[in-house]
Amino acid sequence: MTNTLRPAPLDGTDLQPFARIVTAPTAGQSLADVPIDDLLATVLATKVTVLRGYGLLDKAELEQYCRAAGELLRWDFGTILDLVVRDDPQNYLFDKGDVPFHWDGAFAAQVPRFFLFQCLRGSSPGAGGETVFSDTTQVYREAPEDLRKLWAQTTITYRTDKLAHYGGLAKWPLLGTHPVTGATTIRYAEPLDPAKYLNPLFLTLEGIAPEDGVRVMEDLRERLHDPRYCYAHPWETGDIVVVENHALLHGRNGFSGSAERHVQRIQIV
Ligand SMILES: [Fe+2]
Repeated sequence: MTNTLRPAPLDGTDLQPFARIVTAPTAGQSLADVPIDDLLATVLATKVTVLRGYGLLDKAELEQYCRAAGELLRWDFGTILDLVVRDDPQNYLFDKGDVPFHWDGAFAAQVPRFFLFQCLRGSSPGAGGETVFSDTTQVYREAPEDLRKLWAQTTITYRTDKLAHYGGLAKWPLLGTHPVTGATTIRYAEPLDPAKYLNPLFLTLEGIAPEDGVRVMEDLRERLHDPRYCYAHPWETGDIVVVENHALLHGRNGFSGSAERHVQRIQIV
């Protein structure tokens, strides 16, 4: 289990404003050759770690690899979600539009610490579909004090129909504490307008005045998307991307070109 923050064991190239790319030192290595404790310690320190040049694992191997680090989140489809654009999507995760910011596990019994993607087929350049990560610990650190006070009083109830593997009602304080680093995190899922999204997400704010609630939501839309806090990952075939779920929010840009991308996701509690 990776429970303490230590210097990132895996060397690589740091990106701005965060994330690290680690390239396989020799040909013929696969993800299974990377010690998972080293990988997750690197993810804790860099928030997003991209492995390039490592062979991907099949589903059984990927489960076995990740299970060494902790329990896996299990859904009605199992532990590995195939993210592909479908002809007849019931959920926005599977259509060509954007996926607004959220964190994984808001509607689950447990919030995963990490999730791992492996990309079986990337997007062609300019086709869109980048996964975007926002570092909420940095957003919080750089926010003005009066806003932080307002955030600290805010609790949000999220409501969505269960059209895919998640849904129902979930209630979360807007601010959280990172279980390992102790940093203050922002736990926020952006509302999904029924006019635009297949599965609307409705938010009810409590603890602050309604006019402050409107201001908080408008401000978060600006602040969380500020490029100073965001890393957008363009998918290449063979990429393995491992993500720190507590510190970050994530979403996806819409596809402007062909949507042939195929990514698999697994979540580690
Ligand atoms: Fe997600």
